[in-house]
Amino acid sequence: MQNPDVIIIGAGAAGLMCAATAGYRGRNVLLLEHSNKIGRKILMSGGGRCNFTNLHNSPANYLSANPHFCKSALSRYPAQAFIELVERHGIDYHEKTLGQLFCDLSSKEIVQLLLTECDWAGVDIRTDCRIHRVDALERGFRVKTTFGTWECESLVIATGGLSIPNGGATPFAYELARQFGLEVTPLQAALVPFTLQPADLEIFKPLAGDSHRVRASIGKASFVENLLFTHRGLSGPAILQISSYWDPGGEVEIDLFPELDLLDWLKLQREKHPRADIRTLISRKMHKGIAQAFCTLWGFEGAINRFDNSRLEALAEQFHHWRIKPSGTEGYRTAEVTRGGIDTDEVSSKTFEARKAPGLYFIGECLDVTGHLGGHNFQFAWAAGFCAGQYV
Ligand code: FDA
Repeated sequence: MQNPDVIIIGAGAAGLMCAATAGYRGRNVLLLEHSNKIGRKILMSGGGRCNFTNLHNSPANYLSANPHFCKSALSRYPAQAFIELVERHGIDYHEKTLGQLFCDLSSKEIVQLLLTECDWAGVDIRTDCRIHRVDALERGFRVKTTFGTWECESLVIATGGLSIPNGGATPFAYELARQFGLEVTPLQAALVPFTLQPADLEIFKPLAGDSHRVRASIGKASFVENLLFTHRGLSGPAILQISSYWDPGGEVEIDLFPELDLLDWLKLQREKHPRADIRTLISRKMHKGIAQAFCTLWGFEGAINRFDNSRLEALAEQFHHWRIKPSGTEGYRTAEVTRGGIDTDEVSSKTFEARKAPGLYFIGECLDVTGHLGGHNFQFAWAAGFCAGQYV
């Protein structure tokens, strides 16, 4: 078997982008994927329509121990660059909300785009290929696989994070990083629903399927989007977003009326409808079942004219500052991404080459760079793949 110049392990978003970019530079690229499917997470993403980038993408959309790390790649390969690629391939797309761009038809189109680019760039792709071991040579690497052993000058690790283990996720990148003496920051499921303590679940389980617009906050991080009650706990975009900032044992603060001054509104209602029931009034501003559940939880009932100002203040305070302590998260089984990863201090932000292991590159989700919901994770994967592809 002829040795390639570059071996890329992992045919997901970052690996495919890197392969095509390096191939166009005339590098002989071999892309190895252990599962039988290319770009499985792309196919699953965005409810089958792939939220492939975000019009408002910026470094502020990422969590990392080094928030500056992603800046270089995102400026060299911004959202617009991927949008142009999508347009060149004639893929129709639309903005859903908040700058999130989705395919009109199917995420299969994004995988086909990447496969076409790899084909044009002469990339050799092998699926069902297990990696048995990787050894450093004096110059380059030896990669032992089910299909035999290759040597290469540059080795790129693009095997992603731990989410959806039955979809092909493995800890390969972290293990290989450790093999080469690179630090890995603590890993945690992120963009993931919360589970609730049994007592809380008993109260909120009957609301499963109901959603409500809230502000979910932890410290300075806060997101105004929908919260969805589920059979196991809390989900919906506001919860998925804030889950990336949550540490086990911590609380989340939820403002159930982020766009309303509830106290002012209730005082007005007291003047207009003094005999109206407090629960009925609150039900005008949120789903009836949700209003009932919270009023029962906090012991608010009866006609509003029986609520003096201090009681109304207490009620508004509860609704604007609901503090909930999740029992945990649903974990990697349903998480969209992994928070944490290979320490960005170990890798050049320009080339993605490991400082301690020349010729070894890490790109995409395996790094300690976690995007917000809304196309930012793919945008970082495209950008990192593109940038590393210039140097491998
Ligand atoms: P990615 O996971 O894409 O690719 C890694 C590849 O490596 C996979 O093909 C895997 O099989 C392979 N691999 C793993 N271990 C290996 C090994 N040992 N040997 C060989 N190959 C190996 N993001 C976004 O921006 N918009 C969205 O709409 C969504 N939606 C979404 C839905 C769901 C259900 C999930 C789980 C995730 C998302 N995401 C998302 C997140 C997004 O999918 C993710 O951040 C990117 O796919 C990361 O790209 P990578 O290329 O780094 O890893």
